[in-house]
Amino acid sequence: MARSHREAGLNPAQPPAGTRLCALDEVAEPGAKGFRFRTDEAMFAGFVVRRAGTLVGYVDSCPHAGWPLAMMDRYLTRDGNSLLCAGHGALFRPEDGFCTVGPCAGDSLTPWPVVVEDGWIVTA
Ligand code: FES
Repeated sequence: MARSHREAGLNPAQPPAGTRLCALDEVAEPGAKGFRFRTDEAMFAGFVVRRAGTLVGYVDSCPHAGWPLAMMDRYLTRDGNSLLCAGHGALFRPEDGFCTVGPCAGDSLTPWPVVVEDGWIVTA
């Protein structure tokens, strides 16, 4: 029997694998979209990035200070080439979450696996 997130020591608010987040068409190309989930006192924040024909997801927590990277789905820089943390300006590579510039350079965002199934973005 599968253990719950709480039993596994994970954030209990993180949605289980197979949770539909939104239709793929709701995320621009290039673009990004954030999601928030709440269970009792726990909150989980994640976002997905669609760019260059790929879709990836990350936990919305900057490795510098743990803040969410963005409000209003403004995760990508204007040129679409980097993810920007509004906290202190860290830049991350969209494809793997590696921080290239900023106070957490060399650290990485935590992956939040997602897949596309029947036109929906789904947690994996
Ligand atoms: S919280 Fe992201 S750069 Fe400081």
